[in-house]
Amino acid sequence: MESRVENDKALIFIVDDVAKNLQVLGTILKRQNYKIAFATNGKQALENINNISPDLILLDVMMPELDGFEVCKRLKADEKTKDIPVIFLTAKTEIEDVVNGFELGAVDYVTKPFNATELLARVKTHVELKRSREKLQELVATKDMFFSIIAHDLRSPFATISAFISLISKYFGKIPKEEIDELLESLKETSDSTRELLDNLLQWSRSQTGTIQFSPEMVAVGEMIKTNLGLLTETAENKKISLKPRLDFTGEIKIDKDMIDLVIRNLVINALKFTPSGGEITVATQKTDGTVEISVNDTGVGIAPEMIPKLFSVADKISTVGTAGEKGSGLGLILCKEFVEKHSGKLVVESRVGEGSSFRIQLPANGS
Ligand SMILES: Nc1ncnc2c1ncn2[C@@H]1O[C@H](COP(=O)(O)OP(=O)(O)OP(=O)(O)O)[C@@H](O)[C@H]1O
Ligand SMILES: [Mg+2]
Repeated sequence: MESRVENDKALIFIVDDVAKNLQVLGTILKRQNYKIAFATNGKQALENINNISPDLILLDVMMPELDGFEVCKRLKADEKTKDIPVIFLTAKTEIEDVVNGFELGAVDYVTKPFNATELLARVKTHVELKRSREKLQELVATKDMFFSIIAHDLRSPFATISAFISLISKYFGKIPKEEIDELLESLKETSDSTRELLDNLLQWSRSQTGTIQFSPEMVAVGEMIKTNLGLLTETAENKKISLKPRLDFTGEIKIDKDMIDLVIRNLVINALKFTPSGGEITVATQKTDGTVEISVNDTGVGIAPEMIPKLFSVADKISTVGTAGEKGSGLGLILCKEFVEKHSGKLVVESRVGEGSSFRIQLPANGS
């Protein structure tokens, strides 16, 4: 039923009961590298729409049983399909009906016999409109999330910081120096973690709004991992966790170094957070055909299967405290996934509660 062309072009769903029309439209659209899916009646269209999830529907008006108007009405009444633009396919004589049909939510019409230039222009316009609408919705969602994170997650540490300062100024000189030192230490921890949260938040919003530059260069993977592990040795030693590299691949790969540095550090910091003292963390690399994999494996607390999909969702923003009470914002993995995907890579998670977790960064082995 469906034939896809390997590119970023939109998927057009053509619904028409006349095979000849499907063929003509299919040929015109395929020549422009659109992906195509077909249905030959309204019922079939409605049954398949959710599996196909097209960018645009070309919908014949005159079809037996369910006609195009009825199909359009049902698509527009369903939350899942209501935003997909519908263009009616119609004979010249039906134009008046079709204009009335706009009330049902269609965005345009094309008359038969098809004029390729006209058809392509309309398809292009409406696909572009749909995509910019989605982009805008995404930006608005990001902005909303941004504000809600600021409201929830920054207010409380600032309240804590302010309370510590009040305590210190009230008791300074009146209580032993060690107690003041302890208060100062807590003050520093809170302000450090708040700054980390802000950094993550800014990185994330920059990547969402497309203002982060993606600058891939050839980078030696082995060196990069050793440097990152070096930065975290002290934390590992303090928590009595063994942190070891196991590098089967140490060669070069084309990546944006800042982004992958951040991903590796975030994953190792997580492993350190969620592994109790005495545990073990291994950072491994390997190369199989076409893919370089960097994995961070721990013997920590693990993650329940139902939690795994939620780790990467901005709406859920899952965060639990570490085995030594370490706090976080729940943004780390969301950023990691985004940065890995910017490289056309994948971030894969495997975990067993009580046994440990494995986070695997799979990158195309460009140039290595
Ligand atoms: N290696 C791991 N072992 C067990 N649980 C993990 C591991 N890595 C992540 N998690 C779980 O996933 C949650 C989300 O991780 P994420 O890195 O996104 O946020 P965080 O570490 O809580 O905060 P942040 O990284 O923003 O400071 C964690 O709070 C924890 O519940
Ligand atoms: Mg984290």
